[in-house]
Amino acid sequence: KTLTHDKISAQKDGFRYFMEKEIYEQSLVVAETLMGRIKDNSVVLDELSHLDLSSIDAIKICACGTSYHAALSASYMFERLAKIRCNVEIASEFRYKEPLLDPKTLFIVISQSGETADTLEALKMAKQSGMSTLAICNVDNSSIVRTADMTILTRAGIEKGVASTKAFATQVVTLWLLSLFVGEAKGTIEESILQREIAALLHIPLVLKVNESVHEKIRRLSKRYLHGHGFFFIGRDLFYPLALEGALKLKEISYLHAEGYPAGEMKHGPIALADSELFTIALMPKNLLYDKMKSNVEELGARDSTLLIISPEPFELADDFIKTTPQTHMMSEFFEMMIITQLLALEISIRLGNDVDMPRNLAKSVTVE
Ligand code: G6P
Repeated sequence: KTLTHDKISAQKDGFRYFMEKEIYEQSLVVAETLMGRIKDNSVVLDELSHLDLSSIDAIKICACGTSYHAALSASYMFERLAKIRCNVEIASEFRYKEPLLDPKTLFIVISQSGETADTLEALKMAKQSGMSTLAICNVDNSSIVRTADMTILTRAGIEKGVASTKAFATQVVTLWLLSLFVGEAKGTIEESILQREIAALLHIPLVLKVNESVHEKIRRLSKRYLHGHGFFFIGRDLFYPLALEGALKLKEISYLHAEGYPAGEMKHGPIALADSELFTIALMPKNLLYDKMKSNVEELGARDSTLLIISPEPFELADDFIKTTPQTHMMSEFFEMMIITQLLALEISIRLGNDVDMPRNLAKSVTVE
């Protein structure tokens, strides 16, 4: 028994939990995911050599859980960068709504395990309707990979923590690559924008190196966030799916109530909950709607919500402030803030004495509907 225990902790490479190790691995696995996929200032996805994009005029993505949040982030990237309509649905909703399926729409599923029952069934429905299907998946030869017409593997390596971290990072990077690929193939992205995006993409492995002093700061401040009425993670645009993902991480491993919300929507109901026992975690990048976020956060501060601000800019009303690096590209800000929300969930969960890697009631792969 002791031997097994030692063996497992050896695989943790000195980290306390697999989740922590996987957060620290993100820089490496994202570099893997990018390997060979950018050549001569252009995106190369050999996996899609049979895809005829000229007959595709929209994209539909289905997924569950964390993979669904990656899908939501993709909807912003496809429309902004590739100028192609993109719509995203939770697989378990999609399956039973009698959806209208159009063969001119590319159907994408995203799954870490490749075995999620609802995602697999959604994929089969799309395939039967004659749509072209693409899987973005972390496990080769999984059911989803075997079913889809095409697959792009995310190369995150085996993910052991039930709460997904490095798989999410590689999914977002793959979807970013894919949106550039589609933009290039359809001629809908300007060359200067393509070059700017490629340079930003190549910079992400550096952004994903965990800053130990930021981790230590999060560890210290996490003790203020163990009790209370709940958490609202708020963000706008691409930082809204990130807010959803941050809240999901916290729920999964701390069992505290957390919601992700679009910041501009708080005034339409949730702000009624604001008092000092309500924790607002605000994702405030400098490169995207900073002033809009500022006024949303001020409204919450004025109603006494405890504010944890994650931003490169100091914020007067902040109760706690985690300073991020000033960056010129919003995706660098996205990935830096992603790590901060992951570490926050990790440290809160550890302080509460929970089993970080195997949270109650959850499974790594959900093969029942
Ligand atoms: C389970 C896991 C989540 C995961 C979701 C979808 O609920 O606990 O971490 O995001 O399934 O899994 P998939 O393997 O399809 O990405």
